[in-house]
Amino acid sequence: MDYGIKGRTAIVCAASQGLGKGCALALAREGVDLVINARTADALEATAEEIRRATGVSVRAVAADITSHEGRAVVLAACPDPDILVNNAGGPPIGDFRDWDENAWQSAVNANMITPIMLIRAVVDGMIARRFGRIVNITSRSVKAPLAHLGLSNGARAGLTGFVAGLSRQVAKHNVAINNLLPGPFLTERQIDGLRKLAAKAGQTYEDFLAARVAENPAGRFGTPEEFGKACAFLCSADAGFIIGQNLVIDGGSVNATM
Ligand SMILES: NC(=O)c1ccc[n+]([C@@H]2O[C@H](COP(=O)([O-])OP(=O)(O)OC[C@H]3O[C@@H](n4cnc5c(N)ncnc54)[C@H](OP(=O)(O)O)[C@@H]3O)[C@@H](O)[C@H]2O)c1
Repeated sequence: MDYGIKGRTAIVCAASQGLGKGCALALAREGVDLVINARTADALEATAEEIRRATGVSVRAVAADITSHEGRAVVLAACPDPDILVNNAGGPPIGDFRDWDENAWQSAVNANMITPIMLIRAVVDGMIARRFGRIVNITSRSVKAPLAHLGLSNGARAGLTGFVAGLSRQVAKHNVAINNLLPGPFLTERQIDGLRKLAAKAGQTYEDFLAARVAENPAGRFGTPEEFGKACAFLCSADAGFIIGQNLVIDGGSVNATM
């Protein structure tokens, strides 16, 4: 299937590993030239080189903290007029709501709500003028089915979701499609780190805790960044312009809901 985006340009934030990398690779396989971002320069450049070798597209690596004003400015300077924007950043820490003071909330809201909104604000008028734009925000299944230990994520990402619900309908007539991808469990560094902490709290080994989580997922497994990336590439395809303001849960069926 030809996604019709060969030669387009994309910014993929927080993409040296995990879900962001999965999205970057899938877009590159469709012939999209990339600017990828993460904070750690060496790891980011290694990923950029891996994607160049695998796909032959142009990949520029911009090491910066995307949650800072300065970091976003550097990324946008490298690609001021992207056709595609994939918003992503590190997730907030797990814990109990009593752990999170005002600073913790400011930080979570900045990373998981204000940062993607500022990036959308910077690129959406150019997309409107060029009559093509695809924006995918990586959020979390916690938006749809709150996870008690991820209260910062439940709250901050819900704010982004509400904003996107409104904006996506304002810009759809210009062939600019904004949607959210809601990952469930994917076995990335972040997931492994969280599982280790939860296993320790439950007095279990990481291996036993992981096996129980895998067994309770309807798909009987965790997801892979590669399959997550393919869903992202589809939402960025030329024919996805009628998919507007949606929240696609990719979780193996773990959110137990009819709709
Ligand atoms: N994995 C899951 O199962 C799952 C489920 C639900 C939601 N999510 C959410 O999906 C997002 C991605 O998760 P993941 O599992 O792919 O994480 P991951 O494997 O830990 O990868 C995180 C990536 O983001 C980069 N990054 C982190 N903070 C950044 C910042 N401030 N500026 C720029 N880059 C930054 C990291 O590189 P540097 O550290 O070098 O910056 C890395 O490339 C997170 O928000 C997470 O909460 C994940």
